[in-house]
Amino acid sequence: MLEQVGHGRTADIFVASDNKVLKLYKKGFPIEAIREEYEVSQYVHDLGINVPRAFEMIERDGRLGIIFERVPGTSLLHLMTRRPLRIRRFSRTLAALHHHVHVHSVADLSRNHKEILAHNIQSAPLLTDAEKSKIIHQLQGLPEDHKLCHGDYHPDNVLVTDQNNSCVIDWMTGMAGHPLGDPGNISLQLCNVNQDLRRVDACRNIAHEYLPELESTSSLRTRPEHRLPQESARRLLVHWPRR
Ligand SMILES: Nc1ncnc2c1ncn2[C@@H]1O[C@H](COP(=O)(O)OP(=O)(O)O)[C@@H](O)[C@H]1O
Ligand SMILES: [Mg+2]
Repeated sequence: MLEQVGHGRTADIFVASDNKVLKLYKKGFPIEAIREEYEVSQYVHDLGINVPRAFEMIERDGRLGIIFERVPGTSLLHLMTRRPLRIRRFSRTLAALHHHVHVHSVADLSRNHKEILAHNIQSAPLLTDAEKSKIIHQLQGLPEDHKLCHGDYHPDNVLVTDQNNSCVIDWMTGMAGHPLGDPGNISLQLCNVNQDLRRVDACRNIAHEYLPELESTSSLRTRPEHRLPQESARRLLVHWPRR
């Protein structure tokens, strides 16, 4: 029996050896998506971004998996919920890492970024139909771009090893797109992370601290007409029920 070190929406993660983990996907999870995560993880690692190396795809007990380098760290979401007084500092880490991802141009990772984002916004439980249409309309107006976007960026996908070292995991939805789409996605994803009320509080704080921080570390803030994805993130937080 393998020791489990984590779990997410798609998979359980087990210790495979001293420095490797096995990410074992839920039964029936589509092989194309797993292959995508395997290939994008290798691609992003080769760009020099601090991500765990993907070694091989395997099958175990009728489930498909990927062997990854083990990161001896704790998820940023875990730290944020344990140490809420440090939320500002953690949010700065979240923004700085995200900016570091967005500086890479990756035309060969093309997918339909806007269409995927529009689908995510369409499925967001906390937006009204009118808000969804408005955000999607503005999203269509974003310029075409081919920067590296994570597509599922949130603090549970950031592992912190020590004060100066963090890495981004879970690259199945990595793609080329406009960096402004990525922060818009963060709150959509945060809403799905956990219903635990402590985490909900953390989520609200994260977006309040993280969004301005990302805007100030990148040049994105200079284009007010392109702020809508951030607006969607803020709006989701406004609608999020208070304790
Ligand atoms: N390479 C790794 N090293 C150490 N822990 C990991 C690693 N990959 C994932 N984990 C742990 O497992 C959790 C879920 O992993 P993740 O890849 O995000 O799965 P999912 O795709 O299901 O969200 C992470 O938050 C982390 O705690
Ligand atoms: Mg994850």
